Amino acid sequence: MSTNTEAWGSRVGLVLAMAGNAVGFGNFLRFPVQAVQNGGGAFIIPYLVSFLVLGIPLLMIEWASGRFGGQFGHHSTPFIMGSMDKRWIWKYVGVFGIFSNIAIAAYYCYIESWTISYIFHSLFGTFNGMDQHEVAGFFSNYLDVTTSTTGIPYEALIFFVLCLALNTWILSRGLSGGVEKVAKIGVPMLIIFGIFLAYRGITLKAGHEGAINNGTVGLNFLWTPDYSSLANPKVWLAAAGQIFFTLSVGMGSIQCYASYLKKRDDIALNAMSAGWMNEFVEIVLGSAVIIPISIGYLGIDRVVELTGIGGLGLGFRTMPFLFEQWGPVLSAIAGVSFFGLLFFAGITSSLAMGTPGMGFLMDEFNWSRPKAAFAFGTVVLLLGLPTIFFFNEGVFDEYDYWAGTVSLVVFALLEAILFSWVFGLKKGWREITEGADIKIPLIYRFIIKYITPVVLILVFTGALIRPVNDDWSNLNPRKWEFHNESIIGQLQHKGVGPNKTWFAGAFYAEAD
Ligand code: PHE
Ligand code: NA
Repeated sequence: MSTNTEAWGSRVGLVLAMAGNAVGFGNFLRFPVQAVQNGGGAFIIPYLVSFLVLGIPLLMIEWASGRFGGQFGHHSTPFIMGSMDKRWIWKYVGVFGIFSNIAIAAYYCYIESWTISYIFHSLFGTFNGMDQHEVAGFFSNYLDVTTSTTGIPYEALIFFVLCLALNTWILSRGLSGGVEKVAKIGVPMLIIFGIFLAYRGITLKAGHEGAINNGTVGLNFLWTPDYSSLANPKVWLAAAGQIFFTLSVGMGSIQCYASYLKKRDDIALNAMSAGWMNEFVEIVLGSAVIIPISIGYLGIDRVVELTGIGGLGLGFRTMPFLFEQWGPVLSAIAGVSFFGLLFFAGITSSLAMGTPGMGFLMDEFNWSRPKAAFAFGTVVLLLGLPTIFFFNEGVFDEYDYWAGTVSLVVFALLEAILFSWVFGLKKGWREITEGADIKIPLIYRFIIKYITPVVLILVFTGALIRPVNDDWSNLNPRKWEFHNESIIGQLQHKGVGPNKTWFAGAFYAEAD
């Protein structure tokens, strides 16, 4: 039995930690890009449907599984799943729920470290007076570790190590003493920054400071429903992929956080609060910052073209230049708000990626929390080095494809089967409703048992096997091919360069 008897400090803290886990780069960088690339308003219907039939059921499954396993002192998916069925296979399936977190952390923490650096550069006015090309070039130089933007050699590496040290330190302070405290500061801060930027975005006026469109042009582009692409499977796959990534389902981190609950604590209302908070931040704030501002200055066509090179491209290559149009003081404030928002969104997610592996080491080997935190930081550093030094070679994409896409869907499918069919939905439903502070519509019994697994199978097959040239009217399966490209970034091959995922474009293309 483990000596790991930690618990959450308060209900508000738990919900904010779970919301912080979910809210991340997915909301601000990935969502707008996915939406634009999938035709703006055409994306939103499949997205909302995916939220209802995949997102919400998986949230309930993961919260319930986590709290269930936690009763037996388990805080990582191999043992949480092992407590739901004794067959050895589930322990091995559960290993996914540790490794995908660590592998995602390897590239996620790298992006997080860019936000720290960009906060300083915005504050100190590095971008002042640079033209659009120079701002874009700055990012390329930054990523090329051996060159320096500031005279500090290996700047990108230094910020990466700093960022990991910060994560390690917070994790070593514990759940209520570290993670929960950061969430209580970080989530409100990012919402305040987000509201400020969204206000700037929406009230942007054509003719002011060089803007060519009102802020509302971008919003209309996103929110005018377009039913024509509803029959397009690519749009559905992209929407399902976004729901997975943004809610952090299929990763093992929600189960881990939920395993620190007590047997009779509510999960139904807590899960819905955290899940809907993520959706608010994504749909309201995530769509009101990058898109209206960039379309305001650059126009729809140019932004569609730029999103072809990935969300990071727009965020790090283009936004600092657009903020410059607001004059030196406001641009510093906007830059710090934007990268500060990204930083808080990022760190509350990377902390969530650390906890499953640490829970495992603490439960099974009786490691102390600081020792486990240090192990996490070290492993992420080692795994992260290839992304830094071989960014060009697509190591980033490899991580994102295997850890950030394939493994999530496989894991989610298996855990949905375990929950409804092996553990049994009767018991499962009892777990979900035990201690519940809200009544969950009964239709969810049916959805969890049948709809969710079937849709997951469809998404998985669709992600791996697709028709040649994506011609879905070709129904001869022998003309289909195995597809080594993530759900996450499939539409990006329309864009510039050999980018496979949403990350890749940050590097390949020159935005000038
Ligand atoms: N959901 C986070 C986002 O939207 C990403 C994440 C992945 C968080 C894995 C935790 C674990 O950016
Ligand atoms: Na998210």
